[in-house]
Amino acid sequence: PLIRKYSNVKELTDLASLPSLFITRNPTAEAAEIIIRKEIPVIDFSFLMSQNSGQRSRTVGDIGKACKDWGCFTIINHGMVENLQTAMKDAFDEFFDLTIEEKQHYMAQELFEPIRYGTSFNEAAVDVRYWRDYLRIIAHPVFSYPAKPLNFRKISEEYTRNMREISIELLRAISESLGLPEATMEEALQLKSCIQLLISNLYPPCPQPELALGLPPHSDSSILTIVMQSNTKACLQVQHGGKWVPVEAIPNSFFVILGDIMEIASNGTYNSLLHRVVLNNESTRMSIVSTIGPPLEALVSPLPQLVDSIRNRPALFRETTYKEYVQLQKQNQEEKSVLSLIKL
Ligand code: SIN
Ligand code: FE2
Repeated sequence: PLIRKYSNVKELTDLASLPSLFITRNPTAEAAEIIIRKEIPVIDFSFLMSQNSGQRSRTVGDIGKACKDWGCFTIINHGMVENLQTAMKDAFDEFFDLTIEEKQHYMAQELFEPIRYGTSFNEAAVDVRYWRDYLRIIAHPVFSYPAKPLNFRKISEEYTRNMREISIELLRAISESLGLPEATMEEALQLKSCIQLLISNLYPPCPQPELALGLPPHSDSSILTIVMQSNTKACLQVQHGGKWVPVEAIPNSFFVILGDIMEIASNGTYNSLLHRVVLNNESTRMSIVSTIGPPLEALVSPLPQLVDSIRNRPALFRETTYKEYVQLQKQNQEEKSVLSLIKL
């Protein structure tokens, strides 16, 4: 009945308790699952652009260490102007404020649909139990945008171009951190025609945040994901040393997450990051996420430079196309990732 009455989580205001559909957590069982506060590495992105080669190589070293120890890091001084970040957030806010009739148009079922609006109450969606609404757009190699709000096109085009540039710069540093020429990743994974997704997740206040999740534990099927957090509530949590660590949102910072394709390409030198989103009962949280992946037809495998079967470094993963990989992941919603399915 509730499912018929409401069509998205955003409309679920003034509920005294959580509808049972959304109960995905058990606080008693979780009591043993300690949440600890720990400092996640912070990288000054401007040092990568530095003319001072010592400063750049130290930063490459710091990025390598963060990738190895954490699978994630925060970047500051990334160069994207704050106005653009605010404009992007406002544009997504305006989209979510459209009537359900206008948004429904984008409730597509296809996996590779250029624009997809999803909600926990969308019967077509697989993940009906999480407390979030989202809009996902394919921004590259073909750029898509919703018809409303009218300025969405201009803002998202600029925002996603900036994010691609930052991503490629980070991938150059990561290649170097693996002891390889900086262009290695972008060439091997054909990133000139990369698939870039732009996703906004909206997590309204939840009446019983301890019982529900915004997103379940998962790793991304991307190479690299960059998250902009809209408020300072540390609701994104990352798995580190078997514990959940909240990501404090430093103002004007971005949070970088290594995806499964990075684990494959680096032949397991770097692991993809397990992360989840918890909720709060005070304010709406929005995240804006850019992900970079290879083109669908690209072959994904460990970089040959990192495979040496004689010296005990055999390939850890079999070759797949990126399309096959993404499809495997969609069929395994509750799994950490499908990496285990392609392990050799
Ligand atoms: C995600 O993309 O996994 C969620 C990011 C977030 O909402 O912070
Ligand atoms: Fe994610």
